[in-house]
Amino acid sequence: MSNKIHFGWFTEYGPIGWNGPDAAEGYDWRQPEVYQKMAAICERGRFDFALFADHLGITSTYQDSLDNYIRYGLNGINHDSTMLAAMVAASTKHLGVGTTISTSLTAPYQLARQTASLDHLTKGRVAWNIVTTANIAGFKNYGIEEMKDHDARYDQADEYMELCSRLWSSWEPDAVIMDRESGIFADPAKVHRINFEGEYYKSQGPLNVLPTPQGRPTLIQAGSSARGKDFAARWADAVIVAKHNLDDMKRYYDDLKGRAVKMGRHPDELKIFFIIKPVVGATEEIAAQRQQLRMNPTDMELHAALAAMSSRMSVDLSKYELDEPVPTMSEKSIQGGQTTLSRYQTAEKRPTLREMATEESAGNKANIIGTPEQVAAQLEEIMTQVGGDGFVVRVDAHDHGYMEEFVDTVIPVLQDRGLVRREYTGKTLRDNLFES
Ligand SMILES: Cc1cc2nc3c(=O)[nH]c(=O)nc-3n(C[C@H](O)[C@H](O)[C@H](O)COP(=O)(O)O)c2cc1C
Repeated sequence: MSNKIHFGWFTEYGPIGWNGPDAAEGYDWRQPEVYQKMAAICERGRFDFALFADHLGITSTYQDSLDNYIRYGLNGINHDSTMLAAMVAASTKHLGVGTTISTSLTAPYQLARQTASLDHLTKGRVAWNIVTTANIAGFKNYGIEEMKDHDARYDQADEYMELCSRLWSSWEPDAVIMDRESGIFADPAKVHRINFEGEYYKSQGPLNVLPTPQGRPTLIQAGSSARGKDFAARWADAVIVAKHNLDDMKRYYDDLKGRAVKMGRHPDELKIFFIIKPVVGATEEIAAQRQQLRMNPTDMELHAALAAMSSRMSVDLSKYELDEPVPTMSEKSIQGGQTTLSRYQTAEKRPTLREMATEESAGNKANIIGTPEQVAAQLEEIMTQVGGDGFVVRVDAHDHGYMEEFVDTVIPVLQDRGLVRREYTGKTLRDNLFES
């Protein structure tokens, strides 16, 4: 475990919460200023990174139709996260910026080149959230009628990573000379073809982008299945994961670190971030009122949560009764998010679909609630009990007020305890991420 607690912000470039109670009149989620303002708050709180999710198609899983997704602006309406990451980087100085890109639907050369270019433009602050895409809509948009099975997508992604790694290191770090007098730009002996030929991909190389400040982007992953965790253990610098209590967090932490060691890595080379959205209030009463509000979602929010889960799992949850216990489904039939569902299915008292959607919509993993001091103490307790390196605060882009309160009341308590940095020390995102 790090000595310091690290923080990130996670959201998506989409309409989520566009007309919700916290979205001010005239709120326009398409505009960069919305995200730049939030990024400035995160930077004030000395966060490591902002990370933007991405999806490559509007899904039609829920109610077997596009209609509701479009009518209400639900899951899958997503602008390009890489473009947004670049805009946010332009308005910040230290904050890392993470984009989500699919290994299944992006050519490796394109990805290696895009992220390397962005690493230059941001002076070493880029992260890539590696996803394999679990929903058929994205595949069909790319002209692919069937997606491979869950584990097979990760097998392919392993080869993808090998290829990208070769491209990123096709220039030796000291290959570039750029000596004006001699007119020598770079040393050809230090730039190499890769001639990669795998089962799925081929690429000649070298990359036509110079070696980058970070060498390769900071690699983030969110695997929660056994296969996904093996992938993360092999490649990721950081993992983001949603766990609902200390036991689950601890189990995940030990398991993943163990897998990293089996891959020949030191456990500290892989940072674990738990997703949170604590309920914070100036007094316990205010916090309790806010908790009440979160646990009473509108019908719209409830259906949005169910639609999002349906898309994630490729299972139409609208087929099941809201007030009946969560249905049993085979792991095989679910394409992603197995662990989300199995947690509810194996609970001592199986919750209803409504209760599950309410909890998902509230987003308060590990039930962190209280005054700033109480919330800070709970966060510290998680780090002490579980290990782990930090938290990703999952807040929609419109909710600047939430993030301001978190950064201006909870973070200072942690800073006073020496648990959160007061100033950035590193030059690159990876430097900051590995600052202990
Ligand atoms: C916090 C978080 C963010 C994620 N973001 C995306 C995303 O933007 N795009 C995407 O296709 N999948 C995303 N995923 C899905 C994960 O990449 C992964 O597939 C999922 O957690 C299930 O794990 P598994 O692949 O090991 O089954 C996200 C998952 C989590 C937990």
